Amino acid sequence: MRSFWGVLACFVCCFDFFAVTEDDKPIQTFVIPHSHMDVGWVYTIQESMHAYAANVYTTVTEELSKAAERRFIAVEQEFFRLWWDTVATDTLKRQVRQLVKEGRLEFVLGGQVMHDEAVTDLEDEILQMTEGHGFLYETFGVRPQFSWHVDPFGASATTPVLFALAGFNAHVISRIDYDLKDGMQKDKKLQFVWGGSRSLKEKQLIFTHTMDQFSYCTPSHLPFSNSSGFYWNGVALFPDPPKDGVYPNMSLPVTKETVHAYAKTMVENIKQRAAWFRTNHVLWPWGCDKQFYNSSVQFSNMDPLMKYINQNSKQFGVTVQYSTLGEYFQAVHQSDLIWEQRGSEDFLPYSTEPHQAWTGFYASRNVLKGVARRASSQLHAAETLFTRYRICFPDGPVAKDWALDKLRALRWAVSEVQHHDGITGTESPEVADMYLQHLTQAMMDVEELLAALFLLPHGLDTSDITGSLYGKTDVDEGLEQHVIVYNPLAWNITTIINTTVTFPHATGL
Ligand SMILES: *[C@@H]1O[C@H](CO)[C@@H](O)[C@H](O)[C@H]1NC(C)=O
Ligand SMILES: *[C@@H]1O[C@H](CO)[C@@H](O)[C@H](O)[C@H]1NC(C)=O
Ligand SMILES: *[C@@H]1O[C@H](CO)[C@@H](O)[C@H](O)[C@H]1NC(C)=O
Ligand SMILES: *[C@@H]1O[C@H](CO)[C@@H](O)[C@H](O)[C@H]1NC(C)=O
Ligand SMILES: *[C@@H]1O[C@H](CO)[C@@H](O)[C@H](O)[C@H]1NC(C)=O
Repeated sequence: MRSFWGVLACFVCCFDFFAVTEDDKPIQTFVIPHSHMDVGWVYTIQESMHAYAANVYTTVTEELSKAAERRFIAVEQEFFRLWWDTVATDTLKRQVRQLVKEGRLEFVLGGQVMHDEAVTDLEDEILQMTEGHGFLYETFGVRPQFSWHVDPFGASATTPVLFALAGFNAHVISRIDYDLKDGMQKDKKLQFVWGGSRSLKEKQLIFTHTMDQFSYCTPSHLPFSNSSGFYWNGVALFPDPPKDGVYPNMSLPVTKETVHAYAKTMVENIKQRAAWFRTNHVLWPWGCDKQFYNSSVQFSNMDPLMKYINQNSKQFGVTVQYSTLGEYFQAVHQSDLIWEQRGSEDFLPYSTEPHQAWTGFYASRNVLKGVARRASSQLHAAETLFTRYRICFPDGPVAKDWALDKLRALRWAVSEVQHHDGITGTESPEVADMYLQHLTQAMMDVEELLAALFLLPHGLDTSDITGSLYGKTDVDEGLEQHVIVYNPLAWNITTIINTTVTFPHATGL
């Protein structure tokens, strides 16, 4: 979700951008192509796949395969997996494997979604990361090394701990209090080592990069025209992509006439940002929400622009290169600086301007929040019970694939709703309905699975999984009703279970 990112006033730059002294090394700019693909927010997943998301991966794969210097980072896994399973041809899949092998298509974060950090449970965060990482490892044998948490509304100190323990080498955040960010920019403190947990010591320390005031989008304003900047494929159209490939607000093409003006704009932006960082490297995210659905027109304009800047790098004082996030962090790492350490303080709540604290979402859409929690507990119960079932009855009548399909659907639904425009409640009504529909459908299917696990055929000894309380006394078979209470926790609890029966006499066990 993109909003308010342009609100922060740019600094007035009072030095001459084009004066480079002898011993000034040019600023090394890492242009990181990416598309911010909210798994939800305004449009449903199906609408997004149709309007732009499938085209992102198809065209990125094609365009990266054409030129060795091109790069792309893929962030959320849900869209990628839908594309991989339902759209990608064998040729595209082969190309993807090659690009991943060459490190030119880099999976960062790797969760099904970019989860919210304020209203989610740790277990659900782990679940949605595991679901995405499992797919990446099984499919490509890779594990994401870096996070890209650039849109959640505030940054919790729990997240870097989780990511460090998940094996990440660096963490990227962006939305923090505007005033704080302003100060961090001035003091060159946007990068630090975060130790979010007091008890876990060194093993959870993680290098953290806070995006500057431009956040994850490319500067959208071009001073030399009324077009937006660096978005040559324009703005995605809903519900259908245009037949002729002509989208609204396509940036001015890079031509002989415009290339210098473009270069000047880009270089000014790079220099403005370089002043906020301690090393000579600038992370220049190239993309924004729903970008790169036509990578062909994106790269065919950026290629000559970057070539022009590099040919004139002495004059500009800047070099540019396509890069993955890993390549950027590698360069920063090699600078061998000592970084300030931050403790367990959160960047919550998040404010975009005075009196604009983003706290309403902590409590809004409480029905969705409640269903998401219930679905998560049900998933945990079903997974543990199914595991115990498989151990007790490896050849039992409940078919493994049938059961796993149901569990997977619930894993997806629970993962998906952790999205930062999902459980937060910041999505459109239509998208909230989509999350609810996916959750309730998957819960109903898993209830079927739970029922099947308990309805064991006669002759099987069920005491292992149903426990010792399942004792039957003299009952009229016709009136017999079973209430099964299953505690999926690893410890004993005492609790009251309220059940309603439809007949006047009932005997407890
Ligand atoms: C931008 O648009 C405004 C208003 O439509 C117009 O007056 C101005 O000349 C335009 N500027 C450029 C550079 O095209
Ligand atoms: C990409 O843009 C070009 C130039 O506008 C157009 O010819 C082509 O059809 C577009 N491709 C897609 C996949 O939209
Ligand atoms: C195109 O740009 C104009 C001017 O910046 C803006 O008002 C309009 O909302 C944009 N259109 C779309 C579809 O984003
Ligand atoms: C839970 O209670 C049962 C029955 O009292 C006991 O056998 C079991 O060891 C307990 N389990 C745990 C994890 O404490
Ligand atoms: C059980 O249900 C009854 C009737 O709905 C209600 O009055 C009572 O408070 C419930 N008890 C608990 C512990 O939820």
